[in-house]
Amino acid sequence: MSFPQQRLRRLRSTAAIRDLVAETRLGVDDLIAPLFVREGITDPNPIESLPGVVQHTVSSLRKEVGELVDLGIKGIIVFGVPLHKDPTGSGAYDPDGIVQIALRELRDAFGSSVVIMADLCLDEYTDHGHCGLVADDGTVDNDATLDLYGEIAIAQAEAGADVCAPSGMMDGQVMAIRDALDEDGFDQTAILAYSAKYASALYGPFREAVDVEIADGGDRRAYQQDPRNFRESLEEIRNDIAEGADMVMVKPALAYLDVLSAARSMVDVPLAAYQVSGEYAMVKAAAERGWIDGPAVAMEQTLAIKRAGADMILTYFARELALKLQ
Ligand code: PBG
Repeated sequence: MSFPQQRLRRLRSTAAIRDLVAETRLGVDDLIAPLFVREGITDPNPIESLPGVVQHTVSSLRKEVGELVDLGIKGIIVFGVPLHKDPTGSGAYDPDGIVQIALRELRDAFGSSVVIMADLCLDEYTDHGHCGLVADDGTVDNDATLDLYGEIAIAQAEAGADVCAPSGMMDGQVMAIRDALDEDGFDQTAILAYSAKYASALYGPFREAVDVEIADGGDRRAYQQDPRNFRESLEEIRNDIAEGADMVMVKPALAYLDVLSAARSMVDVPLAAYQVSGEYAMVKAAAERGWIDGPAVAMEQTLAIKRAGADMILTYFARELALKLQ
């Protein structure tokens, strides 16, 4: 018998057979929409570097979530932009802080029809823009920050968050948050840990979205991971699961598909990937110039993240993709 030259192409010949044999399927319920809510504004405020994404008022946020729920989206993650920032980021754990107000509103409006997640960090709330408390010598104090993370978790859970998602990359943060939640009776509040989070240049547009500028031209390399490292991610993920994470995350997504794929082989807990602001902005910018077919690239890239092993994808394309996937 000669080599079957036509074999691989037989199953590509029609759309129907391609659908039948597809190894990866992207569904609306794989998507989690990141949403921003800003204190002290009366109308939604467009974010220039994230076309189509806005800083919401509490009421426009509620409307947006309603529309996403109608499209079949099962998860959202909320980020707060407070009016006032201070050295300890008090808006993050103030029971009347903007995120807590928004969480209460969403919880009341949507009950259990959507999983409400809250990003758990200090950087949106601190005047220096770091994810933790800054000590006198200018370094971020890991252990003092953990106490505040516990307070944020309690404030978020009390306001109705189903899931706290710590993104600050402090060592021991998952255990500190789990302990704080359990002690206050929030044993049903889950933790989605940003476990393998890199110090990435791809977070640029997000900083505009939350009005964060790191003081003195600083960066997060002393707590977020070095992009040169791979094995370190697996250690971070193992630690977070041992500390009690219910779900773990790799972030950013596309540039770290090797990490995502290895994490998939290693763990059995649900695995998330965050297609971050810079990944979204690049697609939007090139599409705006007519250089790429934006919706097609968005679909291809999100599928690639799913194929590499993500169970859930946090993406600013959530609404657009959900419309396409109806
Ligand atoms: C920290 C946080 C960041 C993002 C999510 N949570 C910013 C950072 O670590 O500097 C980035 C998300 C994105 O770029 O889309 N609270």
